Amino acid sequence: MSEGGTKEQSRRWFLRAAAVGGAVAGCFAHAYAWTRSLVPNVLYEPPKKRKLGAPTRFPEGPTYLQEEKIFVVRTGATLRALSAICTHLGCTVGAEEKGFHCPCHGSSFDDKGVNTSGPAPRPLPWHPLTLRAGTLIVDLGAEVGPDVTLDAPLPKRKRRSRRKGTNK
Ligand code: FES
Repeated sequence: MSEGGTKEQSRRWFLRAAAVGGAVAGCFAHAYAWTRSLVPNVLYEPPKKRKLGAPTRFPEGPTYLQEEKIFVVRTGATLRALSAICTHLGCTVGAEEKGFHCPCHGSSFDDKGVNTSGPAPRPLPWHPLTLRAGTLIVDLGAEVGPDVTLDAPLPKRKRRSRRKGTNK
């Protein structure tokens, strides 16, 4: 066999291997694209309805819940849920003696969540509360007026023992 024939065979082998390799790579790319199309492009978010536990765990006044970014406000036997997200640029507001204050740009809100000063353009939203099987549930995806409340049992007070000198 001549040297030119060997070079020709080598070139043919290379071209054939490149064609087969390209075809296999194309099949894998197509299979990946098809498989990926079965998985939807969805942004998974936490559920809007959250369990908050027993209503008796909330004392009088506002209680901040960091995970939900809300205040559960108890007034006697009624509960309400107020968003702690400032309506200006979304900072977390803090509770004060009479209302709420945003530390970022100084907006103030009264005890009903109404903006009273600063750049906040609107009141803090209230979220509906429901009681299911003894568990308080807040719906962060819905809003209600500030006068919508939920009647809930009061926290249990610790009893003082009247008996003295007993170990029971
Ligand atoms: S983010 Fe609250 S005042 Fe700007």
